[in-house]
Amino acid sequence: MQDLYIQAEAFISSMQQFEGNQSNSDKWKQRLDSIKKSIEETGTYSHTLEELSFGAKLAWRNSNRCIGRHFWRQLDVFDCRALKTKEAIMDALENHVAFSFNKGAIKSAVTIFAPKNQTSKTPDPIRILNHQLIRYAGFKKEDGTILGDPHSLHFTQELEKHGWVPPNKNAFTPLPWLIQINGETQEPYPVLEEKPHLLTEVQIEHPENEAFKTLGLKWYSTPILSDMVLMIGGIHYPCAPFNGWYMGTEIGARNLADEDRYNYLPQIAKIFQLDTKNNRSLWRDRAIIELNRAVLYSFDRDKVKIGDHHAITRQFEKFCENETNSKCPITGDWSWLVPPISASQTPTFSQEFDPTVVQHTNFFYQASPLEGNNQAPAPKGKCPYHIS
Ligand code: ARG
Repeated sequence: MQDLYIQAEAFISSMQQFEGNQSNSDKWKQRLDSIKKSIEETGTYSHTLEELSFGAKLAWRNSNRCIGRHFWRQLDVFDCRALKTKEAIMDALENHVAFSFNKGAIKSAVTIFAPKNQTSKTPDPIRILNHQLIRYAGFKKEDGTILGDPHSLHFTQELEKHGWVPPNKNAFTPLPWLIQINGETQEPYPVLEEKPHLLTEVQIEHPENEAFKTLGLKWYSTPILSDMVLMIGGIHYPCAPFNGWYMGTEIGARNLADEDRYNYLPQIAKIFQLDTKNNRSLWRDRAIIELNRAVLYSFDRDKVKIGDHHAITRQFEKFCENETNSKCPITGDWSWLVPPISASQTPTFSQEFDPTVVQHTNFFYQASPLEGNNQAPAPKGKCPYHIS
């Protein structure tokens, strides 16, 4: 409880600092007094709408692994703390998907549901079990290989245990939503099958190589992370899906390229007739660059907003300078801020970052509440990005 007040105080003082010295200091003192009283009487406190909105932005600003933080002030915050029924929750999530896509001019947004009850050990009021609101299934085939996204394999199996019958199994089968309300797992909701206009995807083709499109690659428009906990001034919001827009390399140098994800580089190399027998032909390097060109080209063709690693890392450098000049030094995780291709050609490569993780207001990983969850348990006490 003492701890909660310390975190609340750290958050309120960041908010005061942001609003500037001219703001009346009595106002902040009074607010802290009322928080203290509330914590003493009820064990917790609740955020005003302004605090919720600023808190979500500050949590983004404090996210060490995010390269897109330059825009942290431009975040649309939806206050859904009062929603309780499955229908209302699903509606709010559908709104988030449509609002953030914004006909391709993607907007950053967060939808915040009820906070955790910090005074009793009751289950979280609402949890989304999906990693992202739009994501592709992974199915194990008889020969042991995986159709679709290997990252979704365990979650796909869970969905099938909960009664999901995939309409068809292909490399890009969208997953239904699985949520828990007060610890009760609800029936999977195949939203993207029932409302296909919410599933906005980009078919990937290459600007010069005609044969590239025979691979049938595509990716979804908007990454909406839905399994992290948003912490504001010590209050946990275990259900607070948020999105930005993609940086091309996330798709072209990781999702479609990693050996333990879609692993398309060997097929791409074939299309470009590269010598895959010899690593020193640098076929992987050449194929990965062509794939990244294709991703950027295709999103641009469809007018779906996407950043490239050259522009975004430069923007980020500018953001660090601005913040430091206004006495808000920033923290960061070098291994995530450096793009997975052409690292040395971007300014983040030669920058140093303070790896401290701001605790009071941030986004954290949290353990999945799924029974029989096969994913590795959170490395408690070790990883500063997990809440214990
Ligand atoms: N890397 C994740 C993915 O490829 C998305 C993480 C958030 N990315 C973002 N641009 N906001 O799906």
